[in-house]
Formats: sequence, C-alpha cells, structure tokens
Amino acid sequence: MKKLTKLAAVVAGCGILGAAGFIGFASYGEHRTFAPVQADNSGPLQGQIKRGEYVAAMGDCMACHTVPGEPPYAGGYALETPFGIIKASNITSDTETGIGHWDLERFDKAVRHGIGSHGYLYPAMPYTAYAKMTDQDIADLWAYMGTVAPVKQKVVENELPFPYNQRVLLAGWNLLFFRDQPFTPVPGVTAIINRGDYLVNGPGHCAACHTAKNVLGGDVSDALHGGTLQGWHAPDLTGNHKVGLDQWTTDDIVSYLKTGASRQGVASGPMQEAVEYSTQHLTDPDLKAIAAYLQQLPASPARNTAAIAASDPQMVTGKRVMESQCNACHNTDGSGVRHMIPALSASAQVNAEDPANLLHVVLKGAEGPVTTGNPTGAGMPRFDWRLPDDNIAAVLTYIRNSWGNSAPRVTPDDVKHARTQLDAQPWLNH
Ligand code: HEC
Ligand code: HEC
Ligand code: HEC
Repeated sequence: MKKLTKLAAVVAGCGILGAAGFIGFASYGEHRTFAPVQADNSGPLQGQIKRGEYVAAMGDCMACHTVPGEPPYAGGYALETPFGIIKASNITSDTETGIGHWDLERFDKAVRHGIGSHGYLYPAMPYTAYAKMTDQDIADLWAYMGTVAPVKQKVVENELPFPYNQRVLLAGWNLLFFRDQPFTPVPGVTAIINRGDYLVNGPGHCAACHTAKNVLGGDVSDALHGGTLQGWHAPDLTGNHKVGLDQWTTDDIVSYLKTGASRQGVASGPMQEAVEYSTQHLTDPDLKAIAAYLQQLPASPARNTAAIAASDPQMVTGKRVMESQCNACHNTDGSGVRHMIPALSASAQVNAEDPANLLHVVLKGAEGPVTTGNPTGAGMPRFDWRLPDDNIAAVLTYIRNSWGNSAPRVTPDDVKHARTQLDAQPWLNH
C-alpha cells in the first residue's frame, strides 16, 4: 500500500514536472541574463573581503560545500534528498574544477537565480532563499570567495535516478515554487525586525529545514511551522505555545544560536552544524534581530491533544524505564540542568507531533555542539543497544505525556522503523 502511494506520487510528480518543465522552459530560460549587480565597491578591498566572509557565515556556505576534515569549499559533500543524493559543488577559486574562472555576474546567476555550470541547480542549493540577498552582500561574498584557496577536485555533479537527473525539469520546478524576488523591507515594522526577516528568509535560509515540503520538495505555505529532514524534525519557530518558541525569551534564542544551548534545549544534528558553521559567528545585534523577527511571527494553530492517562500500560512501563535509565541526568520532574541537560518538561521538542528527534537522540545519543561560548558541551548516551523497542517507545510516550506535556504515542513499530532509518544498533538481549 505504502509503495503504491509512493509510486503514484512519483508518476504524478513526473507528469506535473514534465508539463511545467515545458512551460517553464519557455518562460524561465536558462540563458536569461539578470540585472547587473549594483554594489559600492569603492572602499578598501580588505574591508569588502571581511564583509564577504561574514556573508558566507550568514549563508552557511561551508556546511554543505565542505566535507568535514577536507579543505574548505572543495565540495563533494553528499546531500540526501527524497529524490536521491546530490553532491555540493567545488566552489574554491580553482580555475578548472572550482569557480575561479567565474565573474560576479556568473556567481550571482548561480547563487541568487539557481543557474550553474551544468544548467539549472537543484534546490538542495538554497538559491530560493539566497534570491533575497542584497546586491551588496552578493558582491562582498564574491570578493571573499576569490580568497578561498584553490583545490583541484572534480565533483560528480549528480547521482539522481531518471527522471530526476534531468535538470531541464527544474525549470518547471522553479515556475511552481521559486519566487525570484529581492528582499523588500516590510513597511511599518522596525528596522530590527526587517533585518531579522532578511537574515531568516534570505541568507540564513532557515525555512530550508524549518518549513515542511510537499511531494515535489517545494515549501508548503505554512512557513516555519516545522519540517522534517534526514530523520530529524526541525521544530516550529513561530510563537506556538506548545511546540513553538512561545516560552523562549530573546536571550534564550540568542544563546541557542550563539552557543548551541539554551534553557530549553541543546542543538544536535543539522542544527548543530548550522550553529557551528553559521549562527555562532553572527554579531549579537544580528542574533537579536533574528529573535525579534521570530517572536513577532503569528503562532501556528494550536493542537489540543489530551495527555495519555498515567494508568495506561505504556505510561506505567515508561515511568519505570525513566526511573532506571534517565532520572540521573534529566531529574524526576524532567527539569534537566541549565545549559547542560535539556528539560523534558514544557519542551517544544518533546511535544512535537513528529517524534523524530526524540528517537534520534535516544537511539543514537547526541553531543552538544562545542562553540566558543559553550566549550564543554554535554553528551546524551545512546540507548539503541541497551533498551528494546517497546521500552524506548514506552519511555518516549511517558515523557511526551507527563509534567504538562501531551503528544501522540510512540509505538514499538516507530522505534523499529527509526532503528533501520538511522542505522542504529540492535538491542543486545542480555
Ligand atoms: C544546503 C546546502 C547548501 C548550502 C547551504 C549552500 N550550497 Fe551551494 N550548492 C549546494 C549543492 C547541492 C550544489 C549543487 C547543485 C546542483 O548540482 O544542482 C550547490 C551549487 C553551488 C554553486 C554552483 C556551482 C556550479 O559549478 O554550478 C555555487 C556557485 C554555490 N553553490 C555557492 C554557494 C554559496 C556562495 C553558498 C553560501 C551563500 C552556498 N552555495 C550554500 C548546496 C548548498
Ligand atoms: C540544515 C537544517 C536547518 C537549518 C538551515 C536551520 N535549522 Fe534550526 N533546527 C534544525 C533542527 C533539525 C533542529 C532540532 C535540533 C535539535 O533538536 O537538537 C533545529 C532547532 C532549532 C531551534 C530550537 C527549537 C526548539 O524548539 O528546540 C531554533 C531556535 C532554530 N533551530 C532556529 C533556526 C534559525 C533561526 C535558523 C536560520 C538562521 C535555523 N534554525 C536554520 C534544522 C535547521
Ligand atoms: C548521562 C546523562 C543522560 C542520561 C542518562 C540521559 N540523558 Fe537524555 N540528554 C542528555 C544530554 C546532555 C542531552 C542533550 C544532548 C544534545 O541534545 O546534544 C540529552 C537530550 C535528551 C533529549 C532531547 C531533548 C531536546 O529538547 O532536544 C531527550 C528526548 C532525552 N535526552 C531523553 C532521554 C531519555 C528518555 C533517557 C533515558 C532513556 C535519557 N535521556 C538519558 C543527558 C542524558
């Protein structure tokens, strides 16, 4: 049944992409030229390069274009998408395998308009957000990219199965999902909120993860209401009381983005990378602007799930597992330890509809990010080999329905599925 649905979606998807590709090709031509970049390049070059380095941090270019442990920006990092693996390009200043022979115009065409060396770029490269970047930021970024040491490394451009390897179809995708428009400040809101809007929806591309995607990988309309990627759930960033940032102060948000930890949580997985490569390098005024923007977003609709009764058999087992395995760190009342061990009570993560992060963290453990502002980090042990599926399901159901939390049950099947998806170890039955 599941397979059939997926097949139907793929067939429908190809149909839509094909038709839209045909129309899109006519109107979104790959050979289009774009308005020249208008920037003030009169100051000292060193200053511009420095500003460009900051733009690269805002855009988190390093996270995707660098394989950990290899030279910066040499590409080859594999991104898993629902359609297959896409590898990030070599964007060092090498003239043969990188972008050293490009000019600003070509760079702009790739980064803001989604057209690169081989034609349309896959939206795994977040040009849909970068389109909002200012001319000055693009010019500064280009000045900085020129200083990145050249690395000769040819990157296989994509390994997607047919028909997704047909770049021309992306013309149709663009037509459906890409609004190629620069950022325009919203009148009547403060300059700080507009700066935050720019950072979040432009270079910061937070929606790439925090907005859910439709079957074709386009954004759904509920921007920043939460999304799922690579077995992680990127939470709701609106003011939703239970699953969003309602209980986060400006300082909480700033501290999380700067150090990877706040009263509410510790960043793991893809957010840990975003903090390490990007947000920890942003200035305090910029982080405050991001917080101010997020805090004025209208809250996503409340979902009122009733908590599962404490007498439920899964809850009873869950409490027992919690007491024997988790209390030492997370405390009986789920309060945790400030800046080291996240609270499980009043936690947006724990209440999230999608338990992906909880499964991830409990099965495989997690290391908090090590940042300049939080040099120690703290670790959550892995329980994949220590607890069977029903115990993990029970303890997660328990924490999701205790201390004022309420969220759907986690089943042993969910755990079994997550073990496979996350390549976790089996339970050692002794
Ligand atoms: C979320 C991952 C991700 C981030 C972040 C990212 N890129 Fe990319 N980028 C990619 C991928 C994947 C490709 C290859 C896409 C393809 O083959 O269609 C790519 C392609 C490119 C290309 C085209 C290269 C060519 O030869 O066609 C350029 C230029 C580029 N990125 C620059 C940047 C810059 C500058 C930033 C930061 C502002 C950035 N990227 C951030 C994933 C990313
Ligand atoms: C590559 C994907 C990705 C990008 C890009 C990203 N995030 Fe996240 N974010 C996540 C994931 C996944 C989590 C959950 C991490 C965890 O629970 O440890 C998260 C967690 C968070 C949280 C904590 C929320 C909570 O309820 O615990 C905040 C705040 C946040 N992100 C803000 C941002 C902002 C602001 C941006 C843009 C500047 C951003 N993120 C960009 C994936 C991403
Ligand atoms: C040795 C101490 C320790 C033990 C034991 C422990 N944890 Fe954790 N836990 C942590 C730390 C530290 C983190 C933060 C790690 C991170 O996210 O990078 C964490 C994170 C979590 C999170 C993610 C919360 C969030 O908001 O992101 C959940 C859920 C969790 N633990 C549940 C459990 C459960 C259930 C058990 C028992 C089966 C358990 N923990 C046992 C230390 C511990």
